[in-house]
Amino acid sequence: MVMSPALQPLNQVLADRVTLHQLRVFAVAARHGSYTRAAEELCLTQPTVSMQIKQLAQVVGMPLFEQVGKRIYLTQVGKELSSACQEIFERLAQVEMTVADLKGMKQGYLKIAVVTTAKYVIPRLLGPFCRRYSGVDVALEVTNHRGIMERASDNQDDLYILSQLPTDIDFKAYPFIENPLVVLAPRSHPLAKERNIPLERLAQETFIMREMGSGTRRAVQKLFDEHKLQIKVKLELASNEGIKHAIVGGMGLSVLSAHTIAIDGQGSDLVVLDVQHFPIKCHWYVCHLAHKQLSVVAQTFLDYLQTEGKQVLGMG
Ligand code: PGA
Repeated sequence: MVMSPALQPLNQVLADRVTLHQLRVFAVAARHGSYTRAAEELCLTQPTVSMQIKQLAQVVGMPLFEQVGKRIYLTQVGKELSSACQEIFERLAQVEMTVADLKGMKQGYLKIAVVTTAKYVIPRLLGPFCRRYSGVDVALEVTNHRGIMERASDNQDDLYILSQLPTDIDFKAYPFIENPLVVLAPRSHPLAKERNIPLERLAQETFIMREMGSGTRRAVQKLFDEHKLQIKVKLELASNEGIKHAIVGGMGLSVLSAHTIAIDGQGSDLVVLDVQHFPIKCHWYVCHLAHKQLSVVAQTFLDYLQTEGKQVLGMG
């Protein structure tokens, strides 16, 4: 007997008429709260995303998003479907992982999210790794500390690299390499030739600070707070590269990871000031959610970072 769609149970209707592709498009749009950003991530056009979600909503029989002003929000049904999608795709990723593991092959997809300062070293480490395991494809997300926390809460990646371990996320963390934070100034700055500069003297200068949510910013703020000193913030900028240019342009001093200047070489227009309590000693950690079962590929990359990372970077 063939039932009309209206009389079929919803799960059967979904199984018959919804594609995994539609669910994926919906899940990504739900995660971003934006069709445009979903289109960017999936390399689709915005109208395609919108059409896929419209068709999905027609099958479900209720709207999945509602528009308030310029933003879209998940409806109650949308929330239900979004959490079902998360489970479905998590399970499928596990199956994919098991298949690769059973084949004993180092191949598959590796998802890593790193803090902005780590982007200076991780791509250099990925090169040799991917040459060794040519079947591995990588998605590398670069964001600030807060962005990493959000992604980890959603279990979006296999591995995370960051300096400051959170207390509210259950991470397994492995120290990887040092990430000293240093005070940078233009080469012509009057403090450039001084030694052992007191923090109080530094506090008289204007600063270019990373944005709220940056771990680097938090570490600097903590040091100044501990010494009961104010930071005179002249400019706030969410880009290490932008900050370096602003320092050269005379907007002020800044504190950044030493790795952000390592690639600039000797001829750089920046100098590291010799300031008391600096460098702030940080470590990068490679982390994963404690309950996460790592794929062979993720485990192999984690082992590679720990055993060969320093050597590949010429630091060990
Ligand atoms: P961020 O990096 O300033 O880009 O957040 C901080 C960190 O090294 O953990």
